[in-house]
Amino acid sequence: MLRFVTGNDGKVREARAALSADVTQFSYDYTEIQSHDLGTIAAHGAREAYQEVGEPVMVEDSGLFVDALDGFPGPYSAYVEDTLGIDRVWHLTEPEEDHAAAFRSLIAYCDGSALETAPTVRDGDPPVAIFEGRVEGTIVAPRGEGGFGYDPIFEYDGRTFAEMEPDEKNAYSHRGRALEAFADWGETR
Ligand code: IMP
Repeated sequence: MLRFVTGNDGKVREARAALSADVTQFSYDYTEIQSHDLGTIAAHGAREAYQEVGEPVMVEDSGLFVDALDGFPGPYSAYVEDTLGIDRVWHLTEPEEDHAAAFRSLIAYCDGSALETAPTVRDGDPPVAIFEGRVEGTIVAPRGEGGFGYDPIFEYDGRTFAEMEPDEKNAYSHRGRALEAFADWGETR
C-alpha cells in the first residue's frame, strides 16, 4: 500500500487512475518549508511523513509558472489561489503579450530504503526519490467545470484542463507525467 500524503481529493483521484499500486489518502500535516524549489519542499514532506508512519509514502508538490510574470505564482501557487484567486491570476496575465505558462509537478517517494535505482535521489536519512512532470500551455479566461485549482485558466491544445475528462487531463498533465515516471520506475525495481 502507498500512502499519498495530501488533503487534495483531486490529486488522489489522478494518482489512483495512473498507478497500479493501492493508493490510500493520508492526511498528515507535514511542515511545508519555504523554498523556491518544489523538489525540496516535497522531499522534506515525504521524509517527515515516512518518519511518522514507517511505511511507503508519496508527497506531491506542484505549481503554475507564468512566463510573463517571471514564473509567478510558482511555489506560491496554493497561497495565491487562496488569497488572490485564479480570476486575478488571469487578470494579471491578460495585459501581457505572452500568455505562455507551465505546470510543474514533483513527486517525492520514501520507503526507508536506499532507492539507488531511482533517476533522482535526494540524499538524507532516509533518502527520497524524486520524479518530475511538466506541461506547457497558455493562460486564458476561465472556462470549464472539471478539475480543480487553476484548471479553468490553463489551456492545452485548444481546451482548458477544466474542459477535459479526468483521464484526458492525466494523459497530458504535469502530474500525469510525473506519475508515469514514478510508475515506470516502480515496474523496473
Ligand atoms: P500543492 O501542490 O498542493 O501545493 O498545490 C499548488 C497549487 O497549484 C494549488 O493552488 C493547486 O490548486 C494548484 N494545482 C496543482 N496541481 C494542479 C492541477 O493539476 N490543476 C490546477 N491547479 C493545480
